[in-house]
Amino acid sequence: MADWSPTEYLRFSDERSRPFVELVARVPGTPRTVVDLGCGPGHLTAVLRERWPQADVVGLDASPAMVARARDQNADPRARYELADVRDYAARRAPVAGADLVISNAALQWVPGHRELLRPLADTAAQTFAFQVPGNHDAPSHRLLREVAARAPYADVVGPVERRATADPAAYLEVLARPGWTVDAWETTYVHVLAGPDPVLRWISATGAQPVLHALEAADAALRARFEDEYGAALREAYPTQSYGTPLEFRRVFVVATRAA
Ligand SMILES: C[S@@+](CC[C@H](N)C(=O)[O-])C[C@H]1O[C@@H](n2cnc3c(N)ncnc32)[C@H](O)[C@@H]1O
Repeated sequence: MADWSPTEYLRFSDERSRPFVELVARVPGTPRTVVDLGCGPGHLTAVLRERWPQADVVGLDASPAMVARARDQNADPRARYELADVRDYAARRAPVAGADLVISNAALQWVPGHRELLRPLADTAAQTFAFQVPGNHDAPSHRLLREVAARAPYADVVGPVERRATADPAAYLEVLARPGWTVDAWETTYVHVLAGPDPVLRWISATGAQPVLHALEAADAALRARFEDEYGAALREAYPTQSYGTPLEFRRVFVVATRAA
């Protein structure tokens, strides 16, 4: 897959940051070391720093563009950002070997077979493993992406679009609950009110729709534009703009697994 665009991603940074704030608020104790898996452009380090000013924070991400942005931004000179894959971290092959708190926001859904990684990831945490993943793989935004991409002439270029399904809170709890651990799992559906034209298209173009858009762009820029027109029209119908903006329902699933003291 082509690399992420930190600039596009940061467009809705208020809405995208809120679940991380709410996840961090549920983490107990005072971790001295924190690893943020799939840290993105580094803007969320401020949330960790505010809660634990003394912590040693390392952000890991598999995207060179995201890691470069996080380093350039340098909003927190005490944080470190490294290029690394979550799968390597789970297998203890990453540049960082473990932390009191291992946390991840909106990243694990991108990792194939993420459910199998949860136990190994929790095992790397001396105190707490906490994550948030979107639970909207069957929302109109994602369903329409799969539907439009399955039409001619896009299907030949894009192939089947992955559903990237995440699990319900109870299913994650079942994976992580075991003697010696306490698991707190829940879900929240936000109703974001987005401004400007085609906001749902802009939102998803920076995240879930990326693999499709990049594949089309690589084949033919005009094909990508045609797809965006068709998909954008379907999104406008599914998410009508109101006088106050465009409401976007967004379900997210949260898990905080903590070792007994
Ligand atoms: C939606 S962004 C979330 C960024 C940040 N955590 C936030 O909440 O704003 C997903 C991030 O996961 C990263 N990512 C995807 N697959 C990954 C993997 N296998 N290993 C490490 N990072 C990965 C992407 O590069 C991207 O920066």
